[in-house]
Amino acid sequence: MTGSGTCADVCRELGIECLSFDIRDGKDATSRQSYVGLGEFDFVWLHPPYWRQKVYTDDPMDLSNAASLRDFLLRYTSLIAVVRWRMAAGGKLAILMGDYSDREAGYCPLIYHTQRLCFEFGLVQKHTQIIRFSHGASSSGRVYKSSFIPGLHDVCTIMERPVS
Ligand SMILES: C[S@@+](CC[C@H](N)C(=O)[O-])C[C@H]1O[C@@H](n2cnc3c(N)ncnc32)[C@H](O)[C@@H]1O
Repeated sequence: MTGSGTCADVCRELGIECLSFDIRDGKDATSRQSYVGLGEFDFVWLHPPYWRQKVYTDDPMDLSNAASLRDFLLRYTSLIAVVRWRMAAGGKLAILMGDYSDREAGYCPLIYHTQRLCFEFGLVQKHTQIIRFSHGASSSGRVYKSSFIPGLHDVCTIMERPVS
């Protein structure tokens, strides 16, 4: 889920070996086939779409194209499952995710689902979550007629694959 390539850029700067791909390259991160021959990973960084908050491509396997929350969560489940499978024992997984809402689907607690799925696949959390504030978000400076709590942050959850 390379996107513009921030993670790969940071790895290059730090001299860390990095493999990065995106559905735009025709590689689906939810498919086992995409990982053939890549070996095991000590650290995985994932920044998936926050469902349809922003649609990235028209590829049917793009998570941002999921037609329903249920469909998104099925694909998200496959993503966590395949990543868990490729993680080295003691390896870390960091996922940046934000909650999403719209009129049709209502409030979708995607940060909760991230933790839930990681636990379901046997990963353990040993650190507090990291909150990223979106101070530049357009909703942070606007005055609204109705009262609601604007979502102005996303959350990085760090999980570990136990050694045994
Ligand atoms: C939130 S963006 C990542 C932004 C990235 N952190 C950056 O530096 O720009 C999510 C990315 O996931 C990609 N994506 C969506 N579904 C995917 C899939 N099934 N396999 C691989 N990449 C996917 C999208 O094309 C998009 O580039």
